[in-house]
Amino acid sequence: MINIAILASGTGSNAKMLLEQEKFLSHIQIELIITDKSNAGVINIARHYNKKVIVVEKGILNKQKHENLIMNHLTKHNIDWIFLAGYMRILSTSFIKYFWSESLNQSKIINIHPSLLPAFKGLNAYEQAYQSADDYSGITVHFVDTGVDTGKIIKQEKFRRLQNDSLDTFKARGLELEHKIYPAVLEMLDKAISNNCYEELL
Ligand code: GRF
Repeated sequence: MINIAILASGTGSNAKMLLEQEKFLSHIQIELIITDKSNAGVINIARHYNKKVIVVEKGILNKQKHENLIMNHLTKHNIDWIFLAGYMRILSTSFIKYFWSESLNQSKIINIHPSLLPAFKGLNAYEQAYQSADDYSGITVHFVDTGVDTGKIIKQEKFRRLQNDSLDTFKARGLELEHKIYPAVLEMLDKAISNNCYEELL
């Protein structure tokens, strides 16, 4: 069994979908949820699923000390893989190196980003994509590397921008797609662990 941690800062709707998917998987255990916000919606979601949830606020800590606290929890719980689900901090190079797999040549940290990467990296991706008036946007699940939203893409899907879309309807359609593809990637990882073959992810 492989232990996974979810890191999230917000509502936690993606975390919820991963927790739903976990029920159908046999090689993955979502062991821990960590949030940096004491009022994050993900806290109640974790409790609903009887999962351990730990709040690690940054407060006055510098980035390294904050990450060290998170790292202590991750090592204590033997976490192998991390799924970022709306985690609003950029992880340091040393954190990513700690979760680096030489055999995969990737980190064992996965992120979901609401744009068709490499377009619209960083913050407010839905807003950036909506303002661009491109006909399509999309959702990307990728390995985390030391850049911001630059890691190797695992799965990417497009959704159409409708002519009468408001930012809200545009985001809602994107979020629906996020909820489909992030659990699908968790399932891909479960299969990879089971077969000891990670090619589909890479
Ligand atoms: C999602 O749009 C995710 O792609 C982005 O942050 C949002 C988090 O939403 N990185 P939720 O907390 O999972 O509902």
